Amino acid sequence: MTKILVKKETMPAFTASAPGKIILFGEHAVVYGRPAIAVPVTQVRARAVVKANPRGRSGELRIQAAEIDLDAPLDSLSKQHPLRRTVQETLNALSVSIAPACMLRISSTIPIASGLGSGAAVSIAVVRAFSAFLGYPLPDERVSAIAYEIEKLYHGTPSGIDNTVITYARPVFFVRGQPIERIKIGAPFTIVIGDTGIPSPTAAAVGDLRQAWQASPRHYERLFDAVGHLTLAARRAIEAGRTRELGPLMDENQTLLAEMDVSSPQLEDLMRAARAAGALGAKLSGGGRGGNMIALAPEAGSAEKISLALQDAGAVHTLVTTVGE
Ligand code: PMV
Repeated sequence: MTKILVKKETMPAFTASAPGKIILFGEHAVVYGRPAIAVPVTQVRARAVVKANPRGRSGELRIQAAEIDLDAPLDSLSKQHPLRRTVQETLNALSVSIAPACMLRISSTIPIASGLGSGAAVSIAVVRAFSAFLGYPLPDERVSAIAYEIEKLYHGTPSGIDNTVITYARPVFFVRGQPIERIKIGAPFTIVIGDTGIPSPTAAAVGDLRQAWQASPRHYERLFDAVGHLTLAARRAIEAGRTRELGPLMDENQTLLAEMDVSSPQLEDLMRAARAAGALGAKLSGGGRGGNMIALAPEAGSAEKISLALQDAGAVHTLVTTVGE
């Protein structure tokens, strides 16, 4: 371990940010080795700023995160607190034992525990800002690996899709344990995102599904296979620019997710409202049970109508994102 000696007064602030994400196809099945497709959502972001604190003692790090009412010395958090672990993993990755005194400020517009990747985005912004502050910005691969370790704290057996799509901030075709593949977007398409407002920790849905899979492996393997085939078909449609085909594929993926028991009446209400307002297809996105659903707009101009229908049906928040713009 080395101790980095830096003139504190001369240290500027280091800022990094990372987008949210949605899973277009393949959530849950991706935990069991099937492919999934995810895209960044740049309209929402997590941001981290690290500033030297010339009056502090070496190793002193204060952390502020207004969205979760946090303003405390880092070492007052439990050792397994995701933010403390993120800082520690960054120090370990750089073999730094003590950092210069500093203040770490985190802010985010990504709704928490709703399937938009807020946890991974915060980790990634913190690793980038903090490693830059220490003078050695970590490469994407290391950033993603640290965020993956932190994801384990949130949901035990993460597939790695969230940290991957958010680190690289571009559409990905993801298979657990394999090198990431980029997806070429043949023609842009518009997705409306509706938030049920019901926080849904991914760990619970993933854990329940694991138990169900253990009880009836053949049944669930068949569901996961079917999702895998849909994801492959979706990739072909996206790359060929046949975007309208994605609607029915989303609906079929949703039927399979409901069979896995990760949907909810509120999610189904929003999907019904989106389809009635002209969406070509809809599904939940992420861990399910609560959180967000997504709907495919027939063209960018109809997204507003679908957004309003979602709000009428109880969505607390809607977002519109065009993939491949
Ligand atoms: O973090 P979320 O809620 O977007 O869920 C991630 C997707 C899952 O497939 C449910 C879990 C995983 O690790 O891939």
